Amino acid sequence: MHTTVGIIGGGPSGLLLARLLHRAGIDSVVLERRDRVFVEQRQRAGILEQATVDVLREAGAGARLDREALVHDGIELRFDGRSHRVDFPSLTGGRRVVVYAQTEVVKDLIALQLDEGGPLLFDAEVHAVEGADTDRPLIRYSHEGREQTLSCDYVVGCDGFHGVARGAVPDGVSTTFERTYPYSWLGILADAPPVYDELIYAHSERGFALASMRSPAVSRLYLQVPNGTDPADWPDDRIWDELDARFALRDGAGQRLKRGPVTQKSVLPMRSSVTEPMRYGRVLLAGDAAHIVPPTGAKGLNLAAADVVVLARAFAHLKDSGSAELLDAYSDTCLRRVWRAEHFSYFMTSTLHTDPRQSPFDTRLQLSQLERIATSPHAAAELAENYTGLPLGPTA
Ligand code: APR
Ligand code: PHB
Repeated sequence: MHTTVGIIGGGPSGLLLARLLHRAGIDSVVLERRDRVFVEQRQRAGILEQATVDVLREAGAGARLDREALVHDGIELRFDGRSHRVDFPSLTGGRRVVVYAQTEVVKDLIALQLDEGGPLLFDAEVHAVEGADTDRPLIRYSHEGREQTLSCDYVVGCDGFHGVARGAVPDGVSTTFERTYPYSWLGILADAPPVYDELIYAHSERGFALASMRSPAVSRLYLQVPNGTDPADWPDDRIWDELDARFALRDGAGQRLKRGPVTQKSVLPMRSSVTEPMRYGRVLLAGDAAHIVPPTGAKGLNLAAADVVVLARAFAHLKDSGSAELLDAYSDTCLRRVWRAEHFSYFMTSTLHTDPRQSPFDTRLQLSQLERIATSPHAAAELAENYTGLPLGPTA
């Protein structure tokens, strides 16, 4: 089989890229190693920047989002026993975010791809990418019990942090910049109404906590925990008690978290990683295959969307004009946004989490930074601009 763009990975990056290429009249094939149910149920992020929402709508994938997403105009910071709200529209000229789970974005894109897009093969595991430095790269994969090949004009690795596409880049050609954090997140889904109508990011000497949501009846909550934490060591009551201790909402607000059955529990590591360049020959990387951000800044899904918007525009430009200039600029164009998001995610993570090794001096620095955000519209605007995401320009 041959296709113009072979896409490895049927997560948000691969699915959105396939959709945008289809809309540009460019054929592609998506190879996804897991089954549909697994991909659609995989709990990940929940915040979409305005630019991501706009892209999904333009791609024809915005109908359910527009019906079901929760529009948020700000977030709450809790620190030192008090709260401060950061308003987005007033600080960014009108930008806001929406809460719409990645699982729902994936479901919407899968339905569109199966209904009117090119081939999307589940249970299709890619084992190798060959000929990255030729004009006919080859993907080797297994599907329906048989070893198969897909010849392509281009291959895009949308296969996440643990994918195989990066392996097509010879040693010494790419550089990976990494940072790991001395803590993880314990994330839960609970059938309990959110404690507040916006997200709450809490700094606490017991550790960070985040109160997010999926609907008016479902809460998504996170606790900073040590690396290597076993979710089984955290029964529901222990989770709720620790969340209450860290949010400490009982003081003035008279609130406590509304409790309910925990329906999903998992531990996710915190890391930053960027692979440069995001291209070798005719193999290009997008989304988590190229970069990872700690989830504190809610950037992962939005960065993935930004990558594939740039890439789809570049392929469309090549098809329409014969010029590869945008494709040749892909990596540099994306990396500017990637490093901005990496810095913001690092800033939010290091300001709000309590590193087990940090000194009281470090804690005072964190509180001073949070106080600065609470008292300076300039500092608050810097957070709001980064959180709501920088607009996707004509080429990026
Ligand atoms: N062959 C086929 N598919 C593969 C292979 C392989 N060898 N390796 C990985 N995959 C698939 C995975 O099963 C997964 O469905 O690639 C997909 C990668 O999806 P994600 O990891 O979700 O990455 P991406 O699409 O870039 O989306 C980034 O997901 O991890 C979150 O925080 C991240 O929100 C961000 C988003
Ligand atoms: C989520 O809802 O899953 C979520 C929201 C904001 C974050 C991280 C995760 O910063």
